[in-house]
Amino acid sequence: MVQKNRAAAGGDIPFGVIHTAAKPLWTPDSWRGLPNAQEVPYPDREALDAALEKLRSLPPLVTSWEIERLRQHIAEAQEGKRFILQGGDCAETLADCRAEAIASKLKILLQMSLVLVHGLKIPVVRIGRFAGQYAKPRSSPTETRGRDTLPSYFGDLVNSPDFSAAARAPEPRMLVRAYQHSALTLNFIRALVDGGFADMHHPEYWDLSFLKRASLSPSLREEYEATMRSLGDGLKFMEALGERTLNDLTRLEFFTSHEGLNLLYESAQTRRVPRREGFYTLTTHLPWIGDRTRRVDGAHVEFFRGVRNPVGVKIGPTISPDELLALCDVLNAGNEAGRLVLITRLGATGVEKILPHLVERVQRAGRRVLWMCDPMHGNTITTAAGVKTRSFAAILEELDRTAEVHRQSGSRLGGVHFELTGEDVTECLGGAAGVTESSLSTNYATVCDPRLNYHQSLELAFLLSRRLSRPAF
Ligand code: PEP
Ligand code: CO
Repeated sequence: MVQKNRAAAGGDIPFGVIHTAAKPLWTPDSWRGLPNAQEVPYPDREALDAALEKLRSLPPLVTSWEIERLRQHIAEAQEGKRFILQGGDCAETLADCRAEAIASKLKILLQMSLVLVHGLKIPVVRIGRFAGQYAKPRSSPTETRGRDTLPSYFGDLVNSPDFSAAARAPEPRMLVRAYQHSALTLNFIRALVDGGFADMHHPEYWDLSFLKRASLSPSLREEYEATMRSLGDGLKFMEALGERTLNDLTRLEFFTSHEGLNLLYESAQTRRVPRREGFYTLTTHLPWIGDRTRRVDGAHVEFFRGVRNPVGVKIGPTISPDELLALCDVLNAGNEAGRLVLITRLGATGVEKILPHLVERVQRAGRRVLWMCDPMHGNTITTAAGVKTRSFAAILEELDRTAEVHRQSGSRLGGVHFELTGEDVTECLGGAAGVTESSLSTNYATVCDPRLNYHQSLELAFLLSRRLSRPAF
């Protein structure tokens, strides 16, 4: 049970701090000292303290009312009234904080969402993996090349990818730089959205350069244009009815998300806000806990159990139904709607074996969750040439199988989570654009996991839209 704590042992505990029956008191620092598989070994404590002090003093990136609004959307998605589209780079980089890269990510998410709206006939909530996706978990804390062993690259929040001792040393000032770049990114996103970047009156603006590219298959292009025409007609019809202003109907919203991996960073921007109860993490709307840091007695679960934000958890194939239920109990002790998002990433071949048991356990216990599918991280392979990639077919298959398991269980797939980019990269295999093993090297640009490119993303949105709009779903 979540309770307000007024008088607890040890003195002055501020109003609004929560504790649960099974867990001791929560504070923004109660995670410290708990198991953390991805703790960053900062060598310079003084520089770290200075950076955290600076972070604490900076204004927040997002607001509590935006966070509450997203919670409301997620609650509605749990009831099948909305669908969630979450996507973006595996890892953002400071170097890629560029106008074109940001605008193209926004565009592809917007276009995918419209395709999904068209098929599903319900509003689609867009959540970017952006404006803060700078921290990466790694399977090994160190990397060895030849005779040299250095710390792994943990994302631009922590260190730099170059393989040199200077670049790989965790540098506390990068916490502040990443925060500033998140602010720059978000500032541009907010300006684009406010400035009519995707004004529904001008759907022809949305396709500009992309649809002119020769490599987009004619059938995909035709289907996209037909979808846009049909959406445009629908809007004109609604406008003619005059029941709601078009502004209201077409208001665009983008939310941000990132893996809440570096708890020093997250806790520095976790605070109370006027006139609301509890603590908000104000670095992003939707933080998620990664598959490597989701242990129920670990630091990440402890930290995120106490914040008001909706929280995602990646669910990989090693989880058991009991473990999942324990996670639900700790992360959503009050069983509130709109709070907990379970993002399964089981791999195309793991879905049927694992997912039915997870769904059944959560259902039987009456836990409120939103089920999403990340079809990327369970389908990563390495080619004979040693290139990390994913196949379009496996991605689609995991989505298909996941939707089917939910359907058969009387549950619902409420959203999807992709690693993608609006640019013309060649990192994932397949799709109509036909990236092959030999063409992977043409533009393999990711600093971390392989992303769907523009065409693959749009194609996937069409295929998904068709499948989810089947009457049986
Ligand atoms: C990721 O989303 O980039 C990631 C590392 O995912 P997971 O925690 O599911 O492996
Ligand atoms: Co990734």
